[in-house]
Amino acid sequence: MGKTPIRRIGVLTSGGDAQGLNAVIRAVVKTASGLGYEVLGIEDGFEGLIGEPHYRVMTSADVRGLLPLGGTILGTTNKGHFGGPRVPDAEFDPYSEAVQNIERLGLKGLITIGGEGTQSITLEFSRMGAPVIGVPKTIDNDLAGTDRTFGFDTALRVATDAIDRLHTTAASHDRVMVLEVMGRHAGWIALHSGIAGGADAILIPEIPFDVNKVAAYVLERDRTGSNFSIIVCAEGAFPKGGQPLYVTGNRLGGVGNFVSEQIEQITGKESRCVVLGHLQRGGPPTPADRILATRFGAAAVNAIHNDIAGELIALRAQDIITVPLEEACGYVKVVRPHNDLIRTARGMGVNFGI
Ligand code: F6P
Repeated sequence: MGKTPIRRIGVLTSGGDAQGLNAVIRAVVKTASGLGYEVLGIEDGFEGLIGEPHYRVMTSADVRGLLPLGGTILGTTNKGHFGGPRVPDAEFDPYSEAVQNIERLGLKGLITIGGEGTQSITLEFSRMGAPVIGVPKTIDNDLAGTDRTFGFDTALRVATDAIDRLHTTAASHDRVMVLEVMGRHAGWIALHSGIAGGADAILIPEIPFDVNKVAAYVLERDRTGSNFSIIVCAEGAFPKGGQPLYVTGNRLGGVGNFVSEQIEQITGKESRCVVLGHLQRGGPPTPADRILATRFGAAAVNAIHNDIAGELIALRAQDIITVPLEEACGYVKVVRPHNDLIRTARGMGVNFGI
């Protein structure tokens, strides 16, 4: 009798990290092992599929203790060789090399955990015939195709905690405190944390702001006895008629300080800016993120086991389903100006700089 061939599933993490990546890896390994698959953990995102593939065989013992751990034990790369669209006739085509390696490794399916950039690369692999399944990830919660991504709830908790802490110091000093949070194209973290923390103004990329309107609101609050104000600002927010601010290259940064300085100049009130940065991406995932990540990981393995490929695992209402990868690629899910959260916040008196 011939030996039964080893059935293999690959998994990789790509793009910026988010709390819950390790929880997905754990769920993949445990679910796949239970179904009799060997799991290959591809290292450093898609880069692990270039040249001689670098990966590790993972068993349940390798994922012990991973559930509460932030970051990714597999490592990750932001774009790397896959920074631009595929050029099929190029002398070196990283896409074909990766797809050939997926075949060489004998993967029944490759699970790629990442945001829009990652899923666009995954879609290209799928079009080239590779059996791939995407798992949505980003703290920004801006991936289309799914209601939620893991990492968002944890980032939201960190940002809300920061607002709570800023409140007491702002009130003690009668100051304006500006908190800059992440959110490149979408203001979900700013909007949710601003509402949860009771911010007085929320500035998001989807609603270009007029700093004079924010300053007028700060002064109005003063007149009515609230001598401090809290402004939450997404890193991608920008003034009406202006552009997002960059520190260098495509690294956003500076809008928080810009708003803080402008407010101080216009109102004469002391103002300070806090940039929360990567604190929002580190540390243990919240219970909600651990659960979502676990559901996503298990669903990805089950999809491969059921011969599904070219799809993204997604949360829709209460259910985990699969949707075509195309739904998550080429654009991101932004806050619509008439979103009920915006209306609710405005009803609470929150100023959006308009
Ligand atoms: O996409 C998630 C995100 O947190 C963005 O909000 C932010 O602009 C970006 O990552 C920063 O990533 P990095 O510093 O790793 O390039």
